[in-house]
Order: sequence, then structure tokens, then C-alpha cells
Amino acid sequence: MNPAERIEELRRLIRHHEERYYVLADPEIADAEFDALMKELERLETGNPALITDDSPTRRVGGRAEAHFEAVDHAQVMLSLDNAYSEEELRAFDDRVRRGLAENSVVPASVPYVAELKIDGLSIALTFENGVIVRGATRGDGVRGEDVTSNVRAIRAIPLRLKADELAPQARMEVRGEVYLSRKSFERMNQEREDAGEPIFQNPRNAAAGTMRNLDPALVARRGLSAFFYQLVSDAAPGSHGETLEQLRAWGLPVEQHWQRCEGIEALLAFVHEWGEKRRALDFDTDGVVIKVDSVAQRAALGTTSKFPRWAIAFKFPAEQKTTLLRKIEVNVGRTGAVTPFAVLEPIFIAGSTVSMATLHNADDLARKDIREGDTVLVEKAGDVIPRVIGPVLSRRPPDAQPWQMPDTCPRCGAALHRPEGEVVWRCENTSCPAKLQRGLEHFAARSAMNIEGLGESLVAQLLDGRLVKDYADIYSLSADTLAGLTSVSVRTDGKEIQRRFGEKNAAKVIAQIERSKTNELWRLIYGLGIRHVGERGAQVLAQAFGSMDALMAAKIDDLQDTHEIGPVLAESVRNWLDEPRNRGLVDRLRDAGLRMEVPPEERIARAAPGPLKGRTYVVTGTLDAMTREAAVEAIERLGGKVAGSVSKKTTAVIVGADAGTKAAKARDLGIPILDETGFLELLNDIGRAG
Ligand code: IVH
Repeated sequence: MNPAERIEELRRLIRHHEERYYVLADPEIADAEFDALMKELERLETGNPALITDDSPTRRVGGRAEAHFEAVDHAQVMLSLDNAYSEEELRAFDDRVRRGLAENSVVPASVPYVAELKIDGLSIALTFENGVIVRGATRGDGVRGEDVTSNVRAIRAIPLRLKADELAPQARMEVRGEVYLSRKSFERMNQEREDAGEPIFQNPRNAAAGTMRNLDPALVARRGLSAFFYQLVSDAAPGSHGETLEQLRAWGLPVEQHWQRCEGIEALLAFVHEWGEKRRALDFDTDGVVIKVDSVAQRAALGTTSKFPRWAIAFKFPAEQKTTLLRKIEVNVGRTGAVTPFAVLEPIFIAGSTVSMATLHNADDLARKDIREGDTVLVEKAGDVIPRVIGPVLSRRPPDAQPWQMPDTCPRCGAALHRPEGEVVWRCENTSCPAKLQRGLEHFAARSAMNIEGLGESLVAQLLDGRLVKDYADIYSLSADTLAGLTSVSVRTDGKEIQRRFGEKNAAKVIAQIERSKTNELWRLIYGLGIRHVGERGAQVLAQAFGSMDALMAAKIDDLQDTHEIGPVLAESVRNWLDEPRNRGLVDRLRDAGLRMEVPPEERIARAAPGPLKGRTYVVTGTLDAMTREAAVEAIERLGGKVAGSVSKKTTAVIVGADAGTKAAKARDLGIPILDETGFLELLNDIGRAG
């Protein structure tokens, strides 16, 4: 077999296994075998660059991050759906449909529908040319969206080339669906963000939307987004919706599998009731059921209003809310010292699980809602995931209930709490606070960091209780004997306490893991140190850019900021951490313990050049059209520029969107250049072309 044939064969195999894994969740081979196929293909393509094509599975994440997203027009308007919130509203919809389809004043008794789960994500439109993906666009306002092709390509459930076994895809066609984040990926991602001291996302939909707005496809690939498709826009679409879904599936596109043909309203209502409960067991969020007339001819007869098709409706599941007793308000101390209040509730079954704790966000929020201990409170499971307290039921407040006060000292170590100016979060600044140490050590040993299996919450607690460790470096002086002798107490279901020895076998395993962790890649150590704002990705970038811990420690703030993808906040946080003598001592002790402190030269790629906007400071004000303000800020920071909150003489230019207020006026007063959105996009484009 010549290289061209083998390359084709490998691509076919890889596409097949990607479908088995990411679309059908039913892999046929082990991850390692899949990786071996991928490696072989990469090797062959490197040796035969002329044979590389855009639809090769190796090309999912190509090139570099985008400067911004282009606005693109949709071939056909992306309509939204009318909503129904009750059985009556659904029956009214069915009546309208049947009356709309009456012939010679004879209203049909029932209409064939298709019911699908409504995926709680964000809509996406993909264009395929001769079966190969050429464009991915967000919905935007329905007429114009954003070109997110490179991000869409990074989603592994989306095939870069469609299968043509049964029917070849049309020369040019569009498929529409929903990009979403599974609950599992959402939880993993939030855990990582929490570990890195970054704000967490409220629900999978926000997380998916936030991820799709990111300009770096490599990050999209790592977050594990997925997608389901439910619409085909083409001249040659099948005559019914059910057949369309089957066709999309046969082309290898992911289609949510629980859709059902339903004849008439009663069958629809049965589907809606069934999934009102069953949806909780799914690995993705669904906020309702979408009901569509099955026949394309009937759809055409019904037509659309200016906003919605008359042949479809979204039934929205009610967000489950219940009242329960708020027993106590306690505070939790996180790894970064953030002290946040949470509610201890009288346990209550809500939206599929028992809730006994709920977030109260922050002290300000709590005071605003005037939530007090002893209150009966209304609890909601937002997005069916994170329970939150909505507010008190005032009519049921006990007469002696007192407003809650944030403690002024840390509940674990007693140090005074501080609230940095402009922030809502209170912090314990004591670097040796046991609560912070506990979370810090758990993070250091976590799978995503130093990956020390067996060193989890309970062992860390025992080590801290026994004063056997007080920082990360102490982990490396532990002996198997010390670990083996540790005992923990647990309470059996019958109330009896039992003592458990950690034991020789467990101890040997953990010690072996600790030993192995010394040879980890440098980025794992940088991430494990738990420097604020440094997530996995940031740690990888720093390790790559500086190549060794020594170089990183010697880096000036400007060197850090000049690094591609490192913004001013992260740079400052890293510099501050490294300037702290205690932290420098810790790094020295880790080095003495034998941890790897370098990136081997062969694993290092060339360091990125300083950003083209280095030394420039911008202010962004007003509403932008083509991108969110966050995307604009991100684009500037990525190119090495800074973004300030207020206009001063140091401002390079002010970027002004619609309805800009005083900042634009101040810029005019100070004679500072003003860029409208078009000017800003041109600037980004020019840089894109130059780079
Ligand atoms: S059909 C013209 N089907 O819900 C019909 N939409 O609230 C267009 N959605 O904009 C949509 N799951 O983003 C359809 N199975 C499904 C869906 C679905 C989620 C989203 C979609 C739409 C929004 C309307």
C-alpha cells in the first residue's frame, strides 16, 4: 500500500472511530489504539505534506487563534420558536395546526408530528460543500451570525467530512442544530476553573456559549463540546422531518436519539410527560420538548409568522422550585482564600436529587435578598445542576430571625477577612490557613495537576491533622511507614465508629505515585502551585514560553505580558506569586526533592513573538455589534495590548460602540483618538494580515 492509500485508509478508520466514540458513545477500540492510528496518520502526513487536506482528522485544530469572528449572513433566516408552558397551550397549538390544515372546511382529527428533546445549548449552522465542512456560524440575530468555523472544527462530534454510503450529500447544503456541553464536561471544566481561582459558569449552556466565543480553537477542543443536529436546509431535503433526521444520522452527524413520531396531541402529551422526569438521567441539559409537524408539505401549507414557524412549538419544562427550611448559613474557604456563604438546608428532593446545601453567591447578594437563618426559603435548581436559594418567604419568617452578618474572621484559622477594593468576595489572606492548605494540597495532587493518585481529600486531611505536611514540598519527604500508620475514623450506618489503618499496601501505592510525579511535565507543576488565574492552559503556555522554572522566576513582568495568550492580570499574578520569598523557598525545596524543573528542548516550540499591540492601552465603551465587549477585550489582550476601565492621558485610543456615554466624551476632551467598531475591526484585520 502506498502512502496515499494508507493515508486514505487511516482517515476512514479514524472517522469511523470518532463517530463510534463521540457520536454513538460506543467505542470499538481502546483510546491507545485510536491514538496510534492518529499518530501514524500525522507521521505520514508530515512526510507527505502534499497529501494533507482540510478534512483530515489531523486538521481539527489548525493554525493559531483568531483575532476576532467575522460577521456572516445566513442563507436562510434562522427562525426561533414560539413557546408553550402548559398542556392547554399545547392543545391550543394543535388546534391551530389542525384548523390551518383543514381542506374544504374539514379539520383533520390528528396530525403526524415529531417530538424531540429541546437541547439547552446554542444554535449553530454548518455549511457542507460536497460533503466537506466549509463553514460554521452562530445564530446571531437570525439574519447575521458570527463565523466560528475554526471552533466548530474542533468539536469532535462534528464530522469534517460526511459519510456518503447511502446517499451522497448535496453539492452545497446547510445543517442546523445545537452545540452543547455535557454535564460531565461541564463539571470537569468548572472544577478546573475553581482550582485555578477563576469564576465558574452557572450552567452548561453559559459554559458552552462562553467556550464558543473563545478565539482559540485549541481551548474549544479541550473543553469537550458536543452537538446535535435537527434541521437540513437544502433544495433536496426529504419529504418528512423523521426522514430528515434519519438522513442526518446516516451522514454521520450526531442526532439526539430519543426523538419520536407522534400521531396527534395525546401521543405528544405522553412524550412530554415522560421526558419531564426522564430528562434528569440524561448527560445533557434539556429545557423542553420541540414539537414539529412531520410532513414538509403540511409545513409549507402552514407557513411562518415574521418570527416563528407556525408548524413548530417549544414546550418548556418548568424550572423546579421548592421551599424548605434554611437551617444555617455557613462559609466555605476555598484554595485562594475566597470565603463564600452557603446555605445548609433541611434536605429536600428537587429536580431529581436531594439537596441539603445551596449556593448563596456572595455576602452582597445575600444582604440584598435579606436571607436569614431560620427562614423558609425558595430553592431552585438552575439549569438542573446547581441548587440556589432564590429568596425568603417573608410571610413565614420567625419573629426572632436576625439579618445575617459575614464573619470578620476566617472560620478555620481566625485570621481577619479582607475584601479587596472593587471585589465582592471576602478573602482569608493567611497563607498558612489550614482550609486553604487542604484545598491547595488537593489541587496540587489532582489528576489535572501533579496527578498523585490516592492523595485525595481524606488523606490530605489526615496529613494536615497529624502535622505531617504544611506545604507541597513536604509531600516529597513522606515515608511509606508514616503513611501506613495513619488511621482514620468513620461512622458505620449503625452508628458505630470504626478505625481504619491506611496500611502498607496503600502506602506503597501512594509513595510510588509521589515518586512518579517528580518526572511530570513542568506545566503540571506550574499549574499545581495554584497561582491565581493560572489554569491548565496558562501553565502550559508559561512552560512552553520560558522552558524552565529558573527562566520563569527570572522573567520580568514585561516578559510575561509579551507572551502570546498571557494577559496583564495573569502576568501580574504570576509575578506577585514568584516575588513572595516563602514561595521562592517552596520552589527551591521542590527542586531539592528532585522534581523536574525544565521542558526538554525537543518538546519546546519556538517562543511567541511579543504581541503587536504591546505598550498600547485601549478603553472599550458602548455596545458593539459584531462581537461582545468581552471578545473585544480578549482580542486586544491576546495581541499584547491592555484594556483599561477609564480614559486617561495614557489611553492609546477609545473603541466606541453604540450608545457610548461619558467615556467617549472624555476622550474627545483629552484629544484621544476614537475608533468606531468598523475602525477597530479594520485594526484587527490589518494585524491579522500582517501576522
Ligand atoms: S428547531 C425553525 N429543534 O431552541 C425551527 N430547535 O427556542 C428551528 N433548540 O433557536 C429550531 N433543541 O436553538 C429546534 N430539537 C430542537 C431544538 C431546538 C434546541 C433551540 C434552537 C432554537 C431555540 C428556540
